Amino acid sequence: MKTKDRLLTLFELNRGVYLSGEDIAQTLDISRTAIWKAVKALQQEGYAIKAVTNKGYCFGEQNDILSAQGMKKYLHPEQKEIEISVFQTVSSTNTVVQQKVSGGARTDCLILANEQTQGRGRAGRSFFSPKDTGIYMSLLLCPKNCSANQASQITTMAAVAMCEAIETICEEKAQIKWVNDIFLRGKKVCGILTEASFSLESGLMEYAILGIGVNLYPPKGQFPKELQTVAGSIFQEQKNDAKNQLVAQFLNHFFAYYSKQSPCDYVQKYRDRSFVIGKQVQLIAGNQSDFVTVVGIDDQCRLLVRYDDGKECCCSAGEINIRLNA
Ligand code: BTN
Repeated sequence: MKTKDRLLTLFELNRGVYLSGEDIAQTLDISRTAIWKAVKALQQEGYAIKAVTNKGYCFGEQNDILSAQGMKKYLHPEQKEIEISVFQTVSSTNTVVQQKVSGGARTDCLILANEQTQGRGRAGRSFFSPKDTGIYMSLLLCPKNCSANQASQITTMAAVAMCEAIETICEEKAQIKWVNDIFLRGKKVCGILTEASFSLESGLMEYAILGIGVNLYPPKGQFPKELQTVAGSIFQEQKNDAKNQLVAQFLNHFFAYYSKQSPCDYVQKYRDRSFVIGKQVQLIAGNQSDFVTVVGIDDQCRLLVRYDDGKECCCSAGEINIRLNA
């Protein structure tokens, strides 16, 4: 590991505390010059680090920059081994993971970026991914013997886990618009796009790329016109260490569900956060659209709807989109 990364690990564990050059040199077994160079490099990446004669270096509490080191201090021990890479700008984190898979990667890993130039959303839409105000991440999952039915649960588990992570950092209840849009204070703050590959022979899933985009802060400037009525952000102003905490909390919650592979744990939490139950919505499947009432969500997180003539049916994600009826 580079000196700069080792120093960041030490700083992340000692936010707001002065560490003397001597202590750092001893702990990391490096020279004072090496420390100074690494501090400069971190400052250039945007970290606030004070250097005070006779006191040492102090890593500011306010730092809010994504890093594997920053996340690891919040991760449960079971999740600490996951490979995490952070990029400044990528086309799409889902594409970066797809490239890793094409290169032979078959172990769970997480790719994050501070900006996407070609962020993708569901149904062929783009996902607005401005620099530094959002978190764009993709998790490669390679479970063994995963059926199509189990695979479809990855997205809904992720929706619940992200709600729980948001609730931990901002103490407000997050809600889910079926199937996987996350709302806070009536505005969409997070979208999820899962792309997966299945074997034609066995019908089992080979891997899934779970892509999540979070609007953490308002974009510099504004949301594009078409998003202004629907999109929002979790915080209105800068918070200390929110990015790493949110991602780590998400991973902790997500893997707790994913490793059990048992729907009962999270489906009720999904229902509790769903704000479409009991509402009239527009059901859109291809070119067809109908107004229906949502009567519930079943154990596979499928939407149970009733048509005006009393007929009921069960809708799976992937085939269907819903629009809230004003
Ligand atoms: C949606 O709301 O339609 C889903 C949006 C998913 C966006 C995330 S951001 C990280 C990952 N990379 C992408 O290109 N898309 C997903």
